[in-house]
Amino acid sequence: MQLKNKKIILVGGAGFIGHNLAISLQMKGANVKILDSLQVNNIGEHSNSKIGKENPIYINFLNERVSLLKKKKISLEKVDARDYHHLSDRLSDFKPDVVVFLAAVAHANKANKDPYNTFDHSLRTLENTLDTIRDSNAHLIYFSSSMVYGEFKKRKVNELTECNPIGIYGALKYSGEKLLIAYNQVFGLKYSIIRPSALYGERCVSRRVSQVFIENAINSKNLEINGDGQDSLDFTYIDDLINGVELVIKNKNSLGQTFNITFGKSEKIINLAEYVAKKFNVKINFNKRDKLMPKRGTLDISKAKKLLNYSPKFNIYKGIDKYIDWYVQYSK
Ligand SMILES: NC(=O)c1ccc[n+]([C@@H]2O[C@H](COP(=O)([O-])OP(=O)(O)OC[C@H]3O[C@@H](n4cnc5c(N)ncnc54)[C@H](O)[C@@H]3O)[C@@H](O)[C@H]2O)c1
Repeated sequence: MQLKNKKIILVGGAGFIGHNLAISLQMKGANVKILDSLQVNNIGEHSNSKIGKENPIYINFLNERVSLLKKKKISLEKVDARDYHHLSDRLSDFKPDVVVFLAAVAHANKANKDPYNTFDHSLRTLENTLDTIRDSNAHLIYFSSSMVYGEFKKRKVNELTECNPIGIYGALKYSGEKLLIAYNQVFGLKYSIIRPSALYGERCVSRRVSQVFIENAINSKNLEINGDGQDSLDFTYIDDLINGVELVIKNKNSLGQTFNITFGKSEKIINLAEYVAKKFNVKINFNKRDKLMPKRGTLDISKAKKLLNYSPKFNIYKGIDKYIDWYVQYSK
């Protein structure tokens, strides 16, 4: 399937991944629409939250997302996907060829602190979407996570590795995968599942480890590591993920499949910390490790390489340099 003139709707599409994906798809000629409440990890939340008040720059990032979308003439409609009728009206009006489902409380710590709302924003919203499109011919692309694997028992996990998620976030992501498969069994729904990991890049406000390292370093503060830094993550630059998602949309081989879409090689957190600390001449502090955070590592991307021709370009050092340059310019 070519992207040109394809009608693609992004539920939760004003987030970090969504707005970057929308812009890229639109530039390739797709007809893109975003539905988003702007309330979760977005303008609504950060206008009032402690994190938003402590980091006023986040509101600038979030407003810049909206301006970029406006500039590209991408329609962004404020819809709370928990509201079945509002969501299903908007989805049915647009008659999408592809639905990319991104809405969630996309943070493991937040999810463990607030399971009730996490369920509603992540799973209620998904069920509303599935039920609306179940009899259509639309291809649903679901954003799962590397957290479905739980603790990595081997150096590398592939899509056949058994999933044993730890905590609310991973359990809900895995439930979402199962729900998609059930809708396929019962209604013949076309779907693909994407499992990303440790994303980073411009205009993110999720405060994942790479972002917080950079922010501390720019402000001449020491870097903080939870644990001894020996944990590894498969850090993935946003452009590589977007490229992978577009291949999933375009390629029929993706139907009914699950893909790890990451850089495909993990790096120890301590190595990234030392790299950033050296650049900015700051020190590293070590704190207690979060027991609910599974030990992860590399996601095997052979399947995406083989079936989709996926070929990520940014190892963590190439990606982090680009991200740091942007952050430094932005913070001036
Ligand atoms: N960023 C990562 O490293 C990463 C890694 C693995 C998986 N994921 C998954 O990818 C997806 C997107 O992640 P992201 O980083 O862009 O997150 P994000 O928090 O930046 O974006 C999520 C968006 O969903 C919207 N949303 C939430 N609840 C909604 C509702 N009820 N109605 C309408 N909109 C709603 C929010 O307003 C927000 O704009 C999530 O499902 C996340 O779990 C992300």
